[in-house]
Amino acid sequence: MSHYKIAVFVGSLRKESINRRLAHALEKLAGDQASFDYIRIDDIPLYNQDHDSQFPAQGTRMKHQVAAADAVLFVTPEYNRSIPGVLKSAIDTGSRPHGDNAFQGKPAAVIGTSFGSAGTAMAQQHLRNVMVAVGLAAMPRPEAFVQFKEGMIEADGSVASEGTQKFLQGFMDAFFDWIRTQQPK
Ligand SMILES: Cc1cc2nc3c(=O)[nH]c(=O)nc-3n(C[C@H](O)[C@H](O)[C@H](O)COP(=O)(O)O)c2cc1C
Repeated sequence: MSHYKIAVFVGSLRKESINRRLAHALEKLAGDQASFDYIRIDDIPLYNQDHDSQFPAQGTRMKHQVAAADAVLFVTPEYNRSIPGVLKSAIDTGSRPHGDNAFQGKPAAVIGTSFGSAGTAMAQQHLRNVMVAVGLAAMPRPEAFVQFKEGMIEADGSVASEGTQKFLQGFMDAFFDWIRTQQPK
């Protein structure tokens, strides 16, 4: 069985983030098939093209982590029907300077959760646009719009219901298949 290193971007900086919980649940379900490298984005300066020639160290750190990964996973909330600005700024940083885009060609997937019934669908659609723009090979399906319910996922990533567990396992299995199909022949 293959083992994949996955660079994980959680789009929320909130301590009690339900998206971080979801990421932990996916990590648990992945078991021995993957190691999750959580990418720190809270200290990366807001993207500024003036800094391309003196790149911020935090941006370089992130880019090295992405370069070392087999794939990228975004687990993001929806803010005002799009992705959080902090996530977009981090992606912009990772894609620069021109010609040194850390994301180019990496297999990637997106998932997210919110209390609303649309389960981050709009944010994910916006993120897919950005993923294509930076050359990530975005897994087309399954889409995973997770409506969060109290007690659904604990802070350590334990999932209460068997149905939710099965759904999330299906998402990870599809992601592993997707990563395999994207490996250079
Ligand atoms: C600035 C802001 C905008 C939000 N906009 C949306 C939205 O468009 N759709 C939605 O479902 N929830 C929205 N929410 C609610 C978030 O889904 C909720 O705060 C969720 O807990 C955020 O995820 P997190 O717990 O991982 O931080 C918004 C929250 C904030 C703070």
